[in-house]
Amino acid sequence: MLPATDHRSKTVVLGITGGIAAYKAVDVCRRLLDSGLRVLPVMTEEATRFVAPLTFSSLASEPARVSLFGTADPIPHTHLAREADIVVVLPATANFIAKIASGLADDLLSATVLASTAPMVICPAMHTEMWEHPAVQRNVKTVKSFGVHIIPPENGKLAGGDTGIGRLVPVEVIVSKVLDILATLDNEQSAMGRRSTSNAGGGGDFHGIKVLVTAGGTRESIDPVRTITNRSSGKQGYAIARNAFSRGAEVTLVTTVDLPYPEGIQEIPVESASDMEQAVLQHAGEADVIVMAAAVADFRPAQVAGTKLHRTDGILRLELEPTPDILAEVAAAKRDGQLLVGFAAEVGMDESSARTKLHAKGIDLIVLNDITCASSGFGSDDNEVLILGAGGLRVEVPLSSKDEVSRRILDSVLSLRPSTMS
Ligand code: C5P
Repeated sequence: MLPATDHRSKTVVLGITGGIAAYKAVDVCRRLLDSGLRVLPVMTEEATRFVAPLTFSSLASEPARVSLFGTADPIPHTHLAREADIVVVLPATANFIAKIASGLADDLLSATVLASTAPMVICPAMHTEMWEHPAVQRNVKTVKSFGVHIIPPENGKLAGGDTGIGRLVPVEVIVSKVLDILATLDNEQSAMGRRSTSNAGGGGDFHGIKVLVTAGGTRESIDPVRTITNRSSGKQGYAIARNAFSRGAEVTLVTTVDLPYPEGIQEIPVESASDMEQAVLQHAGEADVIVMAAAVADFRPAQVAGTKLHRTDGILRLELEPTPDILAEVAAAKRDGQLLVGFAAEVGMDESSARTKLHAKGIDLIVLNDITCASSGFGSDDNEVLILGAGGLRVEVPLSSKDEVSRRILDSVLSLRPSTMS
């Protein structure tokens, strides 16, 4: 398995400001998504006068965000800034460019831009007189000196029937610029990854924390050809690993599936519960946080046939034996300061039995999800969970992307490790 060297696991923060060309950002959003990117739209208040947030919310990877305040997340700008592999703003108004040039952060988009260290592309669009004003030209120059990529407007039709310089460049130009920058980033990261596979030098609120994550459903052999498995896609486990890594953790991912992951995560491919047990026990001692997101088989064939079984052999009766409970083993050997997170994939949200499991397994957090819900759980890109902590913590996460769910799980982990918070 090779780490992803293309841009498919990358996140774009798509900023939209209040100009008539805001409607073109819808097309850019669509094209970026079609290129396999994760797109998080952030609109200024003025942009919402041109295009409804609902339009972006319906298309993008997560609902459009507008405000710094009034959401469950108290610091949305820093979370967005850390998640961004690239920030793209279109159309960029004269007002927005002025704010960035002078370091103002009076709304979610400008605060996110200032908090981000990701590459940034801005695509100005405005009337010719405004574009040519010395103040605007000075601000563009200043923003450029910060390393921001500016795609200058072109000559063409403007709002109100005017013609001149100031028209937003075609959306294809913007998308191809974004993809080019991400491709360059990929190349740089692969080169860095060849030099070092550690994230230990990075910042983030998980800096200095070693996280071990399991992902995917185990496969238990019946014979050399056939296995018993389950429907787990591994997406939630990978999302947790990616989020922990982007927040500065050193991440080891024990997985039965092959999904893209950033260079720098240590991936250990396994197949059966017994392989997973071996890999987890080998790395558990050094981990500060262990998140068992894998759907480990509870039973496996007691005997594995040495050769392929044939239909002509007649009725096949399989005897199943329980697998080792990896999480319980890790909990039994848990050291001081170590934090264990388990998952409970259940039919229905039975909070009291999840709490019982939390205590019975001796773990710190349990993430309960209802696998019968069609829009969440196995295989889906979304999840709806209830996070329960041994100390009474209770966090309801409504239907959200698995990335958002990961973020909330990791926030809950940090809330139990106050000394490590940044
Ligand atoms: O007991 P139950 O299977 O519901 O517990 C689920 C949690 O325990 C998950 O975090 C899963 O990864 C873990 N588990 C395990 N070993 C097993 C079965 C489940 O570590 N054999």
